[in-house]
Amino acid sequence: MQNNAEAALNERDAAHLFHPLHNPAAQTGGKVWVGGEGEFLIDANGGRYIDGLSGLWNNTAGNGRHELAEAAGNQMRELGFASGYAGSSNPKAIELAERLARLTYPTINHFFFTSGGGESTDSNIKLARHYWKLMGKPKKTKVISRIWGYHGTTLAAMCATGINAYWPMFEPRIPGFSHIPTPYPYRYEAPEGAASQGIAAANELEKAILAEGADTVAMFIAEPVQGAGGVIVPQDDYFPRIREICDQYEVLLVSDEVITGFGRTGTMFGLEHWGVRPDLIQFAKAITSGYFPLGGIGLSDAVAEVMVEGGKPWMHAYTYSAHPVGCAVALAMLDIVEKEDFPGQAAAKGTRLLKGLQDALGDHPHVGEVRGLGLMCAVEYVKDRATKEEFDPAEAIGPKVHAATVERGLFSRTRGDVYQIAPPIVTSNESIDRCVEVIAEATKSVLG
Ligand SMILES: Cc1ncc(COP(=O)(O)O)c(C=O)c1O
Repeated sequence: MQNNAEAALNERDAAHLFHPLHNPAAQTGGKVWVGGEGEFLIDANGGRYIDGLSGLWNNTAGNGRHELAEAAGNQMRELGFASGYAGSSNPKAIELAERLARLTYPTINHFFFTSGGGESTDSNIKLARHYWKLMGKPKKTKVISRIWGYHGTTLAAMCATGINAYWPMFEPRIPGFSHIPTPYPYRYEAPEGAASQGIAAANELEKAILAEGADTVAMFIAEPVQGAGGVIVPQDDYFPRIREICDQYEVLLVSDEVITGFGRTGTMFGLEHWGVRPDLIQFAKAITSGYFPLGGIGLSDAVAEVMVEGGKPWMHAYTYSAHPVGCAVALAMLDIVEKEDFPGQAAAKGTRLLKGLQDALGDHPHVGEVRGLGLMCAVEYVKDRATKEEFDPAEAIGPKVHAATVERGLFSRTRGDVYQIAPPIVTSNESIDRCVEVIAEATKSVLG
């Protein structure tokens, strides 16, 4: 029952607040969160919920981490803000860039900071365009990304995002963006005679580059594991082939590590699973566990050299780039990530979660697939397991399962009929097992 405190806050909220993905009708029954403790969120009525998506995939360290609060407070007392614009810097930003040079892919050693993921996508697009102009190939401006990819909602990032629900009310999109099919092992149909499903899916990139003209394509951007699009884990041979294609046609490979960075999938960064090195990366979210809005991009040595030697200023800027408080929080967070072995914890807990879900739901007639990598998993519901036919969206199976999990004390998100689950990396084994129980019970309550 939504009594008193939460309902009253919702009413005040609806009077003056606009939300991301705003829908005033949904807001009337929305959750108002007032506290958090580790993997738990507490609502305005005192209800306790497992934070099944770590906030928005970001809060890997959970709530109530005093180290992060202290880092922010200490930095605010020392230097609350100073510009990072040309010629200015601060020690925390310098230290964070040094630290990231050690933690990210060996070839990625140069960093620019932003306030989040979408700004990082825009930064990489503008960086790629600047780079190709310096390389004497000014026509290389186009961006290729994937259907079901999510890269943010600023205007350029929205055009790279491959979830079409984000587009209609903002058309026309910027020219020069196109999308190839996702590798989606559960649904991608490779043409007959293909070497493998993964190679065929990667070759979609080659087809798109040739269709656009290789001399016009600047970059290909992809999440190592597609997150918001439904936790889509690629085949093992997918990214190695993508790397080959990018090399062959001189297209920069941008790894969007906004969700997969800092341990989530069981390695520090996502493409490590397949031994692939990108030209550019982008990160946000877990670098501060969401305690401060900070993101950024990382450049390979080869790209950075061209940018530096090109001699032209990169006319791209955010007031909050290299914010000293954000960088201080990130440094404290990276201490946690390393000392508490977040990649190792995510691998072990993710295996427990995936196996639990597979054991509980693997045979359910309306569960098409249970999948995941590290501590990011999903359950895809289908009308017919044999044909993989989807439910009519009007049946709202995903939202109903979500509602049934909320009733049982688990709060996460769905993409259509795909239930996504990625709790904080600090989640106890007991809570991981509880997530499995709740999702299994909710599935049975909605689908029998
Ligand atoms: C992979 C990926 N890239 C970019 C973004 C956009 O980040 P932000 O919401 O901070 O702009 C997100 C957000 O969920 C994301 O998951």
